[in-house]
Amino acid sequence: MCGIVAYIGPQEAHPILIKGLKRLEYRGYDSAGIAILNDTLKVFKTKGKVADLEEFIREKDVHGTIGMAHTRWATHGEPNNVNAHPHFSQSEELALIHNGIIENYAVIREELRQNGYSFQSDTDTEVLIQLIEYIKKKSNASLIEAVQSALTQVVGAYAIVILSKTDKDTIIAARKGSPLVVGIGENEFLLASDATPIVEYTKDVVYLDDEEIAIIKRGESLKVKTIRDVEKFPVVSKLEINLSQLEKEGYDHFMLKEIFEQPKTIRDSYRGRINCNNQVISMAGIIDHVDRFMNADRIIITAAGTSWHAGLVGEYLFEEIARIPVEVEYSSEFRYRNPVIYPNDVIIAISQSGETADTLAAIELGKQKGAFIYGICNVVGSSIARATDAGSYTHAGPEIGVASTKAFTAQVTVLVLMALALGQRKGTIDDASIQRILSELQEIPEKVERTLTLSPVIRDISRMFTYSRNFLYLGRGFNFPVALEGALKLKEISYIHAEGYPAAEMKHGPIALIDREMPVVVIATNSGTYEKIISNIQEVKARKGKIIAIVTEGDVTVKELADFCLEIPSTEEMLVPLLATIPLQILAYYIAVFRDCNVDQPRNLAKSVTVE
Ligand code: AGP
Repeated sequence: MCGIVAYIGPQEAHPILIKGLKRLEYRGYDSAGIAILNDTLKVFKTKGKVADLEEFIREKDVHGTIGMAHTRWATHGEPNNVNAHPHFSQSEELALIHNGIIENYAVIREELRQNGYSFQSDTDTEVLIQLIEYIKKKSNASLIEAVQSALTQVVGAYAIVILSKTDKDTIIAARKGSPLVVGIGENEFLLASDATPIVEYTKDVVYLDDEEIAIIKRGESLKVKTIRDVEKFPVVSKLEINLSQLEKEGYDHFMLKEIFEQPKTIRDSYRGRINCNNQVISMAGIIDHVDRFMNADRIIITAAGTSWHAGLVGEYLFEEIARIPVEVEYSSEFRYRNPVIYPNDVIIAISQSGETADTLAAIELGKQKGAFIYGICNVVGSSIARATDAGSYTHAGPEIGVASTKAFTAQVTVLVLMALALGQRKGTIDDASIQRILSELQEIPEKVERTLTLSPVIRDISRMFTYSRNFLYLGRGFNFPVALEGALKLKEISYIHAEGYPAAEMKHGPIALIDREMPVVVIATNSGTYEKIISNIQEVKARKGKIIAIVTEGDVTVKELADFCLEIPSTEEMLVPLLATIPLQILAYYIAVFRDCNVDQPRNLAKSVTVE
């Protein structure tokens, strides 16, 4: 979604801002803009990519050491030059960039119109800066007071940065619901919607909390106060990411790099959490709150997209290993349907970005009902990580490709450990089984390496299906969420329609779609339902569908039936998702590449969905 970057310090601002916007491109956007404060306040903005903005300002006077820039992902008003941020106030004294949505913008706009204000754009953002100016003038207030007053009137989510023509050494920023990070460098400050534009300059950051305002003045230390004027002490955290994690490092796309990072990221997800004789799983979040888990009658997992698919794997894991009933909920549905939540429920929120608006809202709902909230997040210091009672980071490192890959396998790894830790304490799994599964888990990185060697073969298969119009993905048990995830990957980045189904459900409808044009990806690894899935494959074959099968090394039966067979190493059934997902990620990747799609920034999609 939208990206924010701002700078004040001794350096020329615009190269830092443009570079920052490039780092934020992965979030997804459709227009970009920049404001520079020198002898006056200048705004340049354009529809299209950051490269278009760069071209647009090439001959312009953008010198100055204070400025802000924005990438916009359209919500209110189409993507065009006018709707792009920054937005000026009526007098052009103030300019604002904004992430989030001002829900009551229409009412405020009407009131402002009646007071003589007119609007250039269709955005909710312009309404906010006009409101700030209106309050400032009408009440003869300082800019801070006007911002505070305006923010108590708006409903919705915001991360904002404001520049004022009359105060050439100050940046004002605030957040509610949308993330905002302040980087503290040597005599300089950077602001951004995530840490990626900041890490190159400093590792010291302050994460603003909801309803906090940062007042950043040249040569002074950072001041933070709330919209209700309560002074806050800014808590400085250290960034754990480094620059190389934000580069492609020789890969054509971030997605490919992230697929190939999985041996390492899976290892990083379990590293330090298993003791040397595979007997104890140490996860501080569980140890510190073991009673909440032990007394839970059920677990509710809430998430969106790929993280929801990881949640489905979690359901199978918790029920199988720890014998705790689990419900897996789409955050967007859960938050609005008045769900039954008991105080002794445990809610696990899963999110790569830690910023997904629906998942944050689901957490708030769970909190109101007294449930214990556990987070599984990738981004350290993210809103969800901070909103939960306890949690575990996945340690997959920054995921830049919009299509989630390494985050999924890291989430599943953490869920495996959690299920084992709980099963161990509840006595629902014996020590020998725990040791066997944990030692097998530690074999997974090497098995992922072997699975990745299928890449050239998958590339060849992808070429044959580049122009298919539909795909069906089938799996059973632990491989059903894998089928859903494979289908999601393909549709996100190649724009081919794809459905994931539990294999046996196919005959209740989707079988009608099968003909010689329909590729069907079947995950048919060794499992309790292997024989059953062979019957499902026969059903597809009888209707001349093209079968691409993922099987366990050494498989004989499926090989005879399938058009293409991809063999993955044998492992514990519950760990198969960690391997079976890999060929599906690669298949989606190459099909998208052959279709000339923008793999890392697919159309219409955003990396972190901070609006509902
Ligand atoms: C995954 O490939 C998608 N881009 C998307 O479904 C994503 O998983 C979803 O938006 C949830 O994001 P989160 O994990 O950051 O909460």
